[in-house]
Amino acid sequence: MKFGYFDDAKREYVITTPRTPYPWINYLGTQGFFSLISNTAGGYCFYKDARLRRITRYRYNNVPIDMGGRYFYINDNGTIWNPGWSPVKTELDSYECRHGMGYTIITGKKDSLKASVTFFVPQNYNGEVQQVVLTNEGTSSKSFKLFSFAEWCLWDAQDDCTNFQRNFSTGRVEVKDSVIYHKTEYRDRRNHYAFYSVNDTIDGYDTDRDSFIGLYNGFNNPEAVLNGKATNSFADGWSPIASHYKEITLAPGETKTLVFILGYVEMPVDEKFEADGKTINKVKALEMIEKYNTPEKVQAGLAELKAAWDKLLGILSVETPNDKVDRMVNIWNQYQCMVTFNLSRSASYFESGIGRGMGFRDSNQDILGFVHQIPDRARERIIDIASTQLQDGGCYHQYQPLTKKGNADIGGDFSDDPLWMILSVSAYIKETGDWTILDEMVPYDNDMSVAETMLKHLDVSFYHIVNNLGPHGLPLAMRADWNDCINLSCYSDTPGESFQTYTNPKFKAEGGYSKIAESIFVATLFTYTGPNYVAILKHLGKNAEAAKAQAEIDKMKENVMKYAFDGDWFLRAYDATGAKMGSKECEEGKIFIEPQGFAVMSEIGKDQGADIKTLNSIDKYLNTKFGLVLNNPCFTKYYIQYGEISTYPGGYKENAGIFTHNNAWIICAEAYAGRGDKAFEYYSKIAPAFTEETSDIHKTEPYVYGQMIGGKDAGSDVGQTGKNFGQGKNSWLTGTAAWNMVAISQYILGIQPDFDGLKVDPSIPAEWNGFKASRQFRGATYNITINNPKHVCKGVVNMTVDGKTVMGNVIPPFENGTHDVVVTLG
Ligand code: BGC
Ligand code: NOJ
Repeated sequence: MKFGYFDDAKREYVITTPRTPYPWINYLGTQGFFSLISNTAGGYCFYKDARLRRITRYRYNNVPIDMGGRYFYINDNGTIWNPGWSPVKTELDSYECRHGMGYTIITGKKDSLKASVTFFVPQNYNGEVQQVVLTNEGTSSKSFKLFSFAEWCLWDAQDDCTNFQRNFSTGRVEVKDSVIYHKTEYRDRRNHYAFYSVNDTIDGYDTDRDSFIGLYNGFNNPEAVLNGKATNSFADGWSPIASHYKEITLAPGETKTLVFILGYVEMPVDEKFEADGKTINKVKALEMIEKYNTPEKVQAGLAELKAAWDKLLGILSVETPNDKVDRMVNIWNQYQCMVTFNLSRSASYFESGIGRGMGFRDSNQDILGFVHQIPDRARERIIDIASTQLQDGGCYHQYQPLTKKGNADIGGDFSDDPLWMILSVSAYIKETGDWTILDEMVPYDNDMSVAETMLKHLDVSFYHIVNNLGPHGLPLAMRADWNDCINLSCYSDTPGESFQTYTNPKFKAEGGYSKIAESIFVATLFTYTGPNYVAILKHLGKNAEAAKAQAEIDKMKENVMKYAFDGDWFLRAYDATGAKMGSKECEEGKIFIEPQGFAVMSEIGKDQGADIKTLNSIDKYLNTKFGLVLNNPCFTKYYIQYGEISTYPGGYKENAGIFTHNNAWIICAEAYAGRGDKAFEYYSKIAPAFTEETSDIHKTEPYVYGQMIGGKDAGSDVGQTGKNFGQGKNSWLTGTAAWNMVAISQYILGIQPDFDGLKVDPSIPAEWNGFKASRQFRGATYNITINNPKHVCKGVVNMTVDGKTVMGNVIPPFENGTHDVVVTLG
């Protein structure tokens, strides 16, 4: 069942009922000011840091789930409704929500009155603009009352939802003309305030929540709205809000447009107040308001936003026989990658914005998805991340975006972390041809006095693996190895201990983690990423170092084949007792997805057919109608030696959930092995546009990936196997976005930036006649046509560039111009 449709020409998803199976959200903002907005206008905004500078309040895990947002209430002679249906939930005569690139338009109609609200954050602007267009579509005049509503958060979101004994007494506001200012703590230690304005006169306002809503009422029936009049209340302690009240009369056919702005202002300390030393200096706010105080200015702001997205999305676009692929590649997957760049894992409807900072491994992987769109910002991001690395090549697992410093509370020793940086730096160079990033002096642990070149950082990353091998010459598993929930040194039996940061005293004595537990996943990630490092060294003429690194990769491949090939697939790990994990010999969790794809792409044991055996085993044991489960069979008991993984009921999260992130690695591997049909089958099982038809089962947004989909075992714990099979969770902020972008664009469609230029090596469904792609790359634009006359999956037999045949399948680099590339498969 669907709850809307894609409008590809406008790059929008159009939701046609407010009763989606979960709130379906969008993000506004790309620079400093961000908003989350659901299809019923729920959500909140913040400036830069969702925890430390939260502007409006939101209560997570609420009942109903999506309560609180920016709401417009209409009281039309006693009929009370919202354009977005919620929170009043009066049935509307029509409803529509259009989520577009950085904007959302929600339109509701009731009794011939239409209210359409466009929400967006303009470029270079610290505020959310809300344009409300009210139209009387009836034949007689209409008088009604309009109320706006936003609830202020007292800045620090964590403190705001815990420290009530203080917070109920600190709220402060100011009202001047049609602007409501939120100034809690502004007089004291804060140099920022927020405001909510409207570009017209008002007939009243409210700034005190209880006066507006009433102590025994809710968002669904605020007293002031029921009474049809604002109370002109002043918040003083308790909970400050902002609500404008306006009485409006519209003749038949008449339209009235109002522009509301929810803005954020920072002030220099000596300019905070007017001459009286008390009243807020409003100059900056008034300038901001001035910028978008007419519908024309709003239109210009929207056009500017659209132009920015045209540019970002114009770098890569494709025309394939499948319109779902086109809308993923051209629009939504790229859009999601930009959102993960902006938000990392901080604020979504599943991430509270007060938890994690930026992840080392997460941020490096995110780079892969957006480096073609914003190479300069990717470069900056890579250097920020690398600056938190430690001298021995280890890394802080997370860092805080505001300070850019490694997070000591979480610490390091996550065994895969350093390797992802080799991948992100390589991806950056492959995209841009900018080798100078390697010469950049980058600190360790943010200490510039011990800075070394980025190349050296890659070196310590590579050798951090080599220097930390276990008994089989395989990488030590340490605290977790991509899979947060495989914690082989943890052995926790005490509630509340973090599986990721708690280490059993036995291992602590050995230096923090078991010297026996080994990760086959990290081994294969090493053999997959390592060749990039070797290629970089060769390019720099460092042949001896390249040979040395290559020898380590070769040795690792040998060890994996010798000690970790289980006959039909690769093991997952050796645990701290030296027992196999992810083996035929295991009772549960016999096969895991993670090491398999990278092993195949590293061609480990290819001469013995290990690659095809492995891929076939995945198909046989992990494949389901909704995607590939992470492991099989799921764990049904607590395995203390594995850590967190078996704490989840079977079918969820890392315990046999469908982790869309590493489904992509298998898609890549199938494509790599030339099995384009299989690659595409797996791709289309999880790509959101393809799950749209089953939105009632999938539940989360059909335009973006979630981290996880319930696996075939979901529900088995309560004797209802399959109950939540296919149900998506944790949408938006996930490494899935980047990896599936890589899988479809570079592996299936085969448009691959490489060190020497743009390589074209598709691995597509055999039934396709071909496809077209347009790709801007290092200053030139390539219009690529792929022909597939023999209906093969893979194999370039001929390539012409501007009519001339070239050898191989790497387009010779041009620095500018537009070039026609024709590729024939056969
Ligand atoms: C959870 C994992 C999850 C990770 C990131 C961990 O605390 O246990 O299941 O994948 O956080 O969300
Ligand atoms: C989400 C985390 O952000 C990521 O770092 C991890 O690799 C996956 N969960 C798998 O556990």
